[in-house]
Amino acid sequence: MQENPIGIFDSGVGGLTVANAIHQLLPGENLLYFGDTVHLPYGDKSRETIAGYSARITEYLLEQSCKAIVIACNTASANAYDEVVRTAAGKAHVIDVINPVVEFILQQTSYKHIGVIGTKGTINSGTYVSKIIAGNPHLNVSSLATPMLVPMIEEGFIFDDISNAIIRTYLSKPEISSIEALILGCTHYPIIRNQISKYYNFAVDVIDSSRIVASHLREILTEKNLLSPSSSGTCKFLVSDYTDYFQAISKLFFDESLKLEKVSLWN
Ligand code: DGL
Repeated sequence: MQENPIGIFDSGVGGLTVANAIHQLLPGENLLYFGDTVHLPYGDKSRETIAGYSARITEYLLEQSCKAIVIACNTASANAYDEVVRTAAGKAHVIDVINPVVEFILQQTSYKHIGVIGTKGTINSGTYVSKIIAGNPHLNVSSLATPMLVPMIEEGFIFDDISNAIIRTYLSKPEISSIEALILGCTHYPIIRNQISKYYNFAVDVIDSSRIVASHLREILTEKNLLSPSSSGTCKFLVSDYTDYFQAISKLFFDESLKLEKVSLWN
């Protein structure tokens, strides 16, 4: 059981930022990544649709004997967490990308006003705001949907005038002004973390969930005695639709060279 893989999924390649943090922190673990590129993006789909896709991917990861499932997508974490937990009940532990970040925020004592950015599906669900407020009603949490950031990153506009203009246009909105911390509520966004920090002249804490999620996973595996005894694990990367473009762009998200393989779950 300890050597069984950790299943990690996202709508596409963004969740590789989480897989990368897990691989760095837990190099002995075998990882099985699934990017649902045939249905990308999840950010503007309905809750029912996202829950259906997430449940199917979870079934597949369970068939591959995954000992834990990481929902490496904020949109799926916000809209399909219960569905994934139900599907995996009694078979694998489920970790999402929102709860560990909320826990982290609630431990910080210096924040009064926190901003959250993410896809429409994540922001419109209100999940971050309601969970943070439920933990500390004195915190002020403002959220903003920033839907152009995913296509911008996927198209490779990362360190240029276009990305800087889009980032500036979103972050200068009054809704998220005067914050002490900004949660990157989308697993694509760590790719532009430095530009975002720079926009704020490094005066705002930019919170990238990938490392927080990886540490949370380590705690859970340790607690359940499920940590792999190996010192070097294997990583396998599957996608529901393969293009050379996905292969090329995936290099931005994962530090080591990787090869995407196609697997069809929807026939
Ligand atoms: N990476 C996904 C997330 O964290 C967003 C991409 C999408 O819209 O599918 O929300």
